Amino acid sequence: MSASPAQLSLRRPDDWHVHLRDGALLQAVLPSTAAQFGRAIVMPNLSPPITTVAAALAYRQRILAALPDGSGFTPLLTAYLTDTIDPAELERGFAEGVFAACKLYPANATTNSAAGVSDLAKLSAVFETLERIGMPLLIHGEVTDAEIDIFDREAVFIERQLEPLLRRHPGLKVVLEHITTAEAAAFVAGSGANLAATITPHHLHINRNALFRGGLRPDMYCLPVAKREQHRLALRAAAISGNPRFFLGTDSAPHPRHAKEAACGCAGIFNAPYAIESYALAFEQEGALDRLEAFASEFGPRFYGLPLNEERITLVRESVSVPPRLHLNDAAGEAVELVPFHAGELLPWRLA
Ligand code: DOR
Ligand code: ZN
Repeated sequence: MSASPAQLSLRRPDDWHVHLRDGALLQAVLPSTAAQFGRAIVMPNLSPPITTVAAALAYRQRILAALPDGSGFTPLLTAYLTDTIDPAELERGFAEGVFAACKLYPANATTNSAAGVSDLAKLSAVFETLERIGMPLLIHGEVTDAEIDIFDREAVFIERQLEPLLRRHPGLKVVLEHITTAEAAAFVAGSGANLAATITPHHLHINRNALFRGGLRPDMYCLPVAKREQHRLALRAAAISGNPRFFLGTDSAPHPRHAKEAACGCAGIFNAPYAIESYALAFEQEGALDRLEAFASEFGPRFYGLPLNEERITLVRESVSVPPRLHLNDAAGEAVELVPFHAGELLPWRLA
């Protein structure tokens, strides 16, 4: 491949971590994800969270009903772990092809995580089941103790929770979601075949300075929060490394503009509309465009044991101007105002 090709053909990518929301917002944001990705692992942190097979089936129906006509997009649903979740329900949902994975939110770590897990020790029966049936466990890897500095919460989680968990359950298949630190990248790279990580586009582009550039920037706030520059560089190195245990997961997490630009603004970056363009820019800046396809379209399905997409997409080397705001129609035909990641910037690749 030449250093700067005029176009780039990729196997259609999948998004291994996305928030599609529900109701009006689902209708507004789903087309962005469905236009780019073949499949997506859909987060269960709705209100109330998805904890049963019946709730997941109903949510899947709502997603399918909200898809644009002719879309071939497939949502892969997840179960939200609570302290009291029944392992038999998880096993049944996995066997029936309803649940693709389980999601572990430490209680109160992030948006709609109040019903999350208060103590990993309480879930040993669940972890034994997941280990036995090969059902992936997706982890939001942050401790929640108020005494731990927010910028240290991922590294401390790895040391205090993840490492002991993997020691207790060596057969557990785990995805450490949206990693943000050099410590996480090194831990995953140094682990065995059962541990993988997703990397978001925003954590490849911003460091924590972005939150404070010229004033407070709520659109750059997400959890885990962006860290120092050295960590962003470590994530870029991991993403382009060719290690199949690092793959694409956008963590696109839309909140209407009024909910972001508030006294207590919500965490989450809406990157779905230009996600593949954003990854392409990061890989190009690293001189690694030839590694984008494996990261975006091959390593994820291989880890999940799913077939690769057969369809292809084309990225054209033409600049795209990302609007400062998007007005997307919800189910009732009302416009929801959202600020996309890269708002107001020019990106050099356009999805044809
Ligand atoms: O920034 C985030 N937003 N991080 C999460 O873990 C949850 C997400 C959301 O649901 O808004
Ligand atoms: Zn997320």
